[in-house]
Formats: sequence, C-alpha cells, structure tokens
Amino acid sequence: VAAAAVAALAAATLSGCSGISTTTVAEQEFVNDLTIPPLAASSVDDGVRTFHLTAQEGRTTFPGVDGETVTWGFDGGFLGPTLRAARGERIRVVVDNELTEPTSVHWHGMHLPAAMDGGPHQMIEPGATWTPTWTIDQPAATLWYHPHPHGETEKHVYNGLAGMFLLDDDASMAAQLPHEYGVDDLPLIVQDRAFDRDGQFELRHDGAEPGMLGDVVMVNGTVGAVEEVTTERVRLRLLNGSTARTYTFEIPGHPLALVATDGGRMDAPVALDRIRLAPGERAEVVVAFEPGETVRMRSVVTEMGGIVVPATTGANDAFDVLEFRAADALAPTPEPAWAPSVHVEEDALHETDATVTRAFELEGREINGREMSMSRIDEVAYVGDTEVWEVHSSQPIPHSFHIHDVQFRILTIDGASPPPELAGPKDTIFLEPNREYRLLLRFEDYADPAMPYMYHCHMLLHEDEGMMGQFVVIEHGQEVWVGPPGYDDD
Ligand code: C2O
Ligand code: CU
Repeated sequence: VAAAAVAALAAATLSGCSGISTTTVAEQEFVNDLTIPPLAASSVDDGVRTFHLTAQEGRTTFPGVDGETVTWGFDGGFLGPTLRAARGERIRVVVDNELTEPTSVHWHGMHLPAAMDGGPHQMIEPGATWTPTWTIDQPAATLWYHPHPHGETEKHVYNGLAGMFLLDDDASMAAQLPHEYGVDDLPLIVQDRAFDRDGQFELRHDGAEPGMLGDVVMVNGTVGAVEEVTTERVRLRLLNGSTARTYTFEIPGHPLALVATDGGRMDAPVALDRIRLAPGERAEVVVAFEPGETVRMRSVVTEMGGIVVPATTGANDAFDVLEFRAADALAPTPEPAWAPSVHVEEDALHETDATVTRAFELEGREINGREMSMSRIDEVAYVGDTEVWEVHSSQPIPHSFHIHDVQFRILTIDGASPPPELAGPKDTIFLEPNREYRLLLRFEDYADPAMPYMYHCHMLLHEDEGMMGQFVVIEHGQEVWVGPPGYDDD
C-alpha cells in the first residue's frame, strides 16, 4: 500500500514547487538520557502567578554532531521550561527578548484575549519586555508556546524556541492518571533537524514539500533518547513541535491509551495501536510496561487520503524515536480512569446551536484565494456565536490547520463521524487532501474590535509564506476597527 501511494505521490504534479522532500531519518544509537524540561519557577503575588521567560541565543551539544551548535531557547540554550498553571488562576508571563531580532511568544491552544495571544501583532523588539496577563479559563490540557513573527515563525521554532504549557483543573488532579512530572508523566517534544558540515542547524528552502524535513529526530532536544521507566504505567504528553514533519507514533506490542487530545481529556480512554500527529498537534497517551523490558517508540509510514505520511519519497521512512527501559520492579499504577468533569456541560458544544457557517479552502500558499495580510481582517465573529468551519484542501500535500483562541470539535470528515482519536477537543488537525472537515466551535468572550486572532497552516513554511488569515471577535453591534496603529504588511 505504502509503495503504491508513494508512486502515486511522486507522479502527482505539484505546481510551484520542486516536489516532495526526499529526506529520510538517519539511524541513531539510543544511549542518551532523555532531557526533561524543568518546570518554570513562578511566584504568586496579589493573586497573580508570575513566570519569567527570556528568549536568548545559546550553544548546544548534540550527540553525533561535532562541536557546538548555535541554538535559541527560553531561559537556556535550547527549548524552554514547562509552564504549569491551574484553571481559574490569574497568570502573568514576563517575556524578555535578548535575541538580536524581534520575536513573539504565542500560547498555542490557550483561550485568552487577542492582545495576549502572542501572534504577529505582539512583537517583542530586541531588548524589550512583553508582559501578557490573563486568567486560565479552560479544562486541563497539554498546551505549548512558541514564537509567531510573521514570515519568520519557521526559523524561530527551528532554532529552538518552544516549550510546553500544562494546565490542571480539579478533575485532572483527581483523575486516576500518572501525575508525577518527569517520572511517570513525561513531556515529549518531538522535532526533526538537519545539521550542516559545521554542526549548525540547516534550514533548507529548496522548494520541497511540505517544507524542511530533517534527518535527525530528537525528543526534548535529546537525540537517541533513553527513558528509564520505574512505574507500571507512564503518561506521555506528545507534542509534534516540528516545523513540517508529521509522525505516526507506535510502541510495538503496547497499546496506547489515548486520554487527551489538544485541548484536554477525552470522555473516556481510547485504545489505539498508533497515533498520527501533524505539526502543532498534541496527544496524551498512557502506556503500560512489563518489568525489565526495553522497547522503542517509533514513527511509521502511514497512507492517508492518497498521500504518504510523512510526505517523503522514502517508502521505508520508519524510524525509532525514543527508547524505554523498564526497571525489574515497577511501582504499581492503576488503569487510567476519571470522573466526568464538572465543567463538561458548560464547555459542551452543540451543532444545533450553530448560526454561522464559514468555508476555508487551502491551496498553494493561500486560504480562500488570499495570502496573509497583517492589515486585512478576513473573518468577523461574534461573542456567543457557535459556528461551523468547513475546511478543505485539494492538493496532494499535507496541511495542519490551526485556529487560535478556541478548542473545536470535529463534527464530520466527509460526512462521517471522526475516528475516536479525533473526537476530543482539538485546536489543530491534519488535513487529508480532498476531504471535507466540519469543525464546531464557539467564541466565548474577549471581544476586541482592534486585535485579530490567527488561523493558519501549522506547517510553518506554509504559514510563513502566506497560508494564514485573521479573525476578530466582537460583540454584536460592535464594529471592526481596521488598521489600528502598528498594522503594516512588512
Ligand atoms: Cu502554534 Cu498560530 O500557532
Ligand atoms: Cu500547509
């Protein structure tokens, strides 16, 4: 199946580019302890929990690479600490930019005012500080943060600016799920990179779709990572933090109990053999291990909607990602289980409430025939409205569609109910070509006629080259203020 699909894919004509990336992942030795990003320190003052993040340049040593690599990170050389806060908390993040160019920090998956969102309208100049503050008002989830400078997001993320943002709530703390950060509850930021002859990150723009695919895969910045397992079950918080590569993860012989998607817990655990994650997507899975065993999580090739995932011409582009070594005696862990959240009803979306339907066609580097413009508002939404977004792409290349501010539900894919792994709260989805995705969402609050949120492809080259649009959320009766100070198209 995969080989036929590869041939079909290679034969497909792709306008305006030189074809599909041919990069396959190199074999690694799995001998390096998995790095766990530290939990970010915070202090609570006047009821506000304050974090500090500093975007900076550093030097990082990667195994198998000669010399030091110039990298970017938050509070360190590469990636950033894990922020953690609870539903209902007021938080503030003091972000310093010590880089020599402007950047921004977007809280991916967070429901918050557009002015705090960290998109391309909240740039932080070199030497400047940006201090967004908001109240956490959504269920427990695995979110993340990364820069969003218009036209430069791929480079900033590729250089290393990314981290996790974990949200807790009462139900998540009471749930029967592994909870101990870095022990049986592991953040796993999966990314690929390429290195040049000097050991520096190489970001090629050679026209290959869906963008730059590296031949080195790392988890939390660790190449060939090994994690010592000490408990019967481990919760993996998987984030595809790559710029273009889509993964399909499996641990042979080990079912993955999917407990949460992008925006939080499922109604109940779903047993999967594998899970596909496009750039920007997250999943929490609980995996059971046998005492003394060594197994690897790997990414395998899957064929979806006529395209091969990952979209490379290497039909055997399956590779190991992370090795687990279970101790001879494992601490007992119960099966994942939880009581329904008290917030479930209040958070529920109903299709019968939808009053607006919008259609989005992704093609070339455009959405609905337009490239991103910082000075154009593409869509106007109203507080309190429930909407259906119909998203479609017809090219034989993958896209990853992301909407800021909301968590949506997938109503149907080509008219059918989504598979169980796509039934939870989502903010990003892999788009298989020639399929119609109907998404249900609601704009709760935070009207701001002068500040837009983004929707875009999360394959970052596509985003940078224009596959993005802007929407504002306003009150019924309010008018959009187009062209506030600071809008420009550069
Ligand atoms: Cu993860 Cu608009 O981004
Ligand atoms: Cu795309």
